[in-house]
Order: sequence, then structure tokens, then C-alpha cells
Amino acid sequence: MKDRTNNWSQDSYIAAYRFAAEKHIGQKVPDTEWSYLAHLSMVSMEVMAALNYENNMDGDLAVQAAILHDTIEDTDTTYDEILSEFGKSVADGVLALTKDKTMEKQEQMQDSLKRIKLQPKEIWLVKMADRITNLQPPPSYWNQDKKKKYMKEAQLILDELRSGSEFLANRLEEKVLNYQVHI
Ligand code: NI
Repeated sequence: MKDRTNNWSQDSYIAAYRFAAEKHIGQKVPDTEWSYLAHLSMVSMEVMAALNYENNMDGDLAVQAAILHDTIEDTDTTYDEILSEFGKSVADGVLALTKDKTMEKQEQMQDSLKRIKLQPKEIWLVKMADRITNLQPPPSYWNQDKKKKYMKEAQLILDELRSGSEFLANRLEEKVLNYQVHI
């Protein structure tokens, strides 16, 4: 089912988790009272599940990028901090997963996807895992337009990153289909 190159180490996981726990202190999963760590745990879980099926992946890179994927975007963490703590592949991956807020909102995802596609497949996994995790029943205050846009954006992620992991692409496709009941 998989080769040993997919392995990740518990210590790599713990190091990234401790860093993220400190950085995301006080932050909640939107529309819930849950600690933001719930989001990071689910995204890394999706990535770890995919690593059981995909070959020739760097498990530590995939798992650490998953846990750290929102640090630059949502906290005061800098690229250089991640570089010195976790190395260049993780820092480059997290940066690609970070939206450029200086751009027009509707262009931010396309731009991030373009940068993700220049990264190794481990980073593609994280983006798919993030959207799989986020395709939950939408908050009650979202209007139809917002929900439609969110689903369209998920379809874009799927179209662009499908070849990164058949396992996660199938799962994201199913989540997109299921999301239609909310619209
Ligand atoms: Ni996220």
C-alpha cells in the first residue's frame, strides 16, 4: 500500500504542534468555541490518511506544513521564524499556502494555487486537506452567494490540485458534491 519514504516522525509532529499551539493561542475555529488547534488537527489527520496511499512523499514535510499552514496568514509568525525552526521546504510550503492579502480578494486563491503548484506534492496535499476540513455545513449567517462562491472555490482547488493525490482528490470531490445540499 505504501513505501517507507512516506513516514513521518512523532517528534516532528510534536515540534510543529507545540509551535502552532503557542502561535494560535486564543484563536477559535470560526463560528465555534473550539480552539483553532481542532482545525490544525483535522487538516494534519487528512494528510496522514493520504500518506497511507500516496507513494514517495516526505511525511515530515507534509505533516509539518499541515500543522503550520495558517501560521503566517493568521498569526504574527514570519517566514524566517519557520525557516529557522523547521527548514526551507516547510517555510516555502507554508508561504505558498498563505494568501497575499495585498491582492484583490477574488484573486488571492488563484494566486496561492499558482504558488502551491510550484511546490512539491506534499504542499498540494495540505491545501486539499484544508478545504476538505473546511467543507462543513456553512455558518448560519452565510448567504447563498457566499456559499456558492465557497463551493466554486473548492471546485477550483480540486481542478488545480487533483493530480497531487488521487486519494484526497476523491475525498474533496465527494465533499464538494455533498456541500450542494446547503445551497
Ligand atoms: Ni486552514
